[in-house]
Amino acid sequence: METIWADMRDGVDEALMETAGSIIRSGHLVAFPTETVYGLGADALDPDAARRIYSAKGRPSDNPLIVHIASPDSLERIVTHIPERAYILSQAFWPGPLTIIMEKSPLVPSSVTGGLDTVAVRMPDHEIALALIRASGGYIAAPSANTSGRPSPTTAQHVYDDLNGKIDMIIDGGSVGIGVESTIIDLTADTPMVLRPGFISLEMLRDVIGDVRMDPGLQSEDPSFRPKAPGMKYRHYAPKADLTIVEGRGEDVRAAIERLSREAVMKGLKCGIIAADEDAGSYHYGIVRSAGSRAREITISQHLFGILREFDSLGVDVIYSESFDTPQIGAAIMNRLIKAAGHHILSV
Ligand code: TXA
Ligand code: MG
Repeated sequence: METIWADMRDGVDEALMETAGSIIRSGHLVAFPTETVYGLGADALDPDAARRIYSAKGRPSDNPLIVHIASPDSLERIVTHIPERAYILSQAFWPGPLTIIMEKSPLVPSSVTGGLDTVAVRMPDHEIALALIRASGGYIAAPSANTSGRPSPTTAQHVYDDLNGKIDMIIDGGSVGIGVESTIIDLTADTPMVLRPGFISLEMLRDVIGDVRMDPGLQSEDPSFRPKAPGMKYRHYAPKADLTIVEGRGEDVRAAIERLSREAVMKGLKCGIIAADEDAGSYHYGIVRSAGSRAREITISQHLFGILREFDSLGVDVIYSESFDTPQIGAAIMNRLIKAAGHHILSV
């Protein structure tokens, strides 16, 4: 299959957007930018289109997809009962990086929800994404546009590297703004529960709807204590290299990474280091990549997945990463990093 490359870095191209909409309306796949990561879109109301997503990504079909809408009014057709808290959250955070889980209506095919009777919905904060949803009939099912098991794409080039030839179109909208996937909140239980941390923090949610819990399965390594979002149980974002997170006081971490990277290089291993801007100058062995500044935490979330992809393409054997427990996005950054490390954390 020839994948059309649609350059919209300077804004929405009406003619190409019309083509993109007709591809989705005819049951096929278009990758597009959102403010979090690139998504792989298909008509959310077409059961066969969802199956095409699973096959292009190589994704297990029990892992449900997020339905993207362009207006909160679109909720009514796909959700049986819209809880009061959903109105409050959508007013506070939509368009934006928050996905809300509610009870699905019969209109949503079970191939989209992985057989669950709930549906995850979000309204993205990106001009191209919103234009595409409107051009496609109002409902786009979209997981992150990566091959299953690779880091989520934060540029159109990442999508190309994984999916060229397997999908109909890639819309290039430049680098994304946030770089980690949306926060997911489940409103179907008595107490709202965060199933995946993202840019919208627990504190921000509590400020508008009060009591919110974090899914206890998120922190656990015990396989019998599973996260509630089916997708969170997979070892996503797994780089080919062995990744270790080093945590502790700043100077201890810097000394430990300097020593470990020196030992790795002496052994002839190709070593990568993920550091904050503030620390990158402390390291002298291996390939040092600065994720961003601790003082501007969004720069860290923006670059993390791209660095993991770059280390893969360079054939790095071992990676040492600093820990990035920043105030707002830190929970999301560390959730992704800990998974990429397969829970391998060294406390110094
Ligand atoms: O930022 C994002 O959310 C991006 C962009 C493209 O919007 N999308 C994204 O989709 O990250 P995906 O498929 O990579 O992750 C969706 C997650 C999975 O962990 C899935 O298991 C969970 O949402 N999920 C979807 N529907 C669910 C449901 N009904 N109940 C529980 N978890 C659900
Ligand atoms: Mg994903």
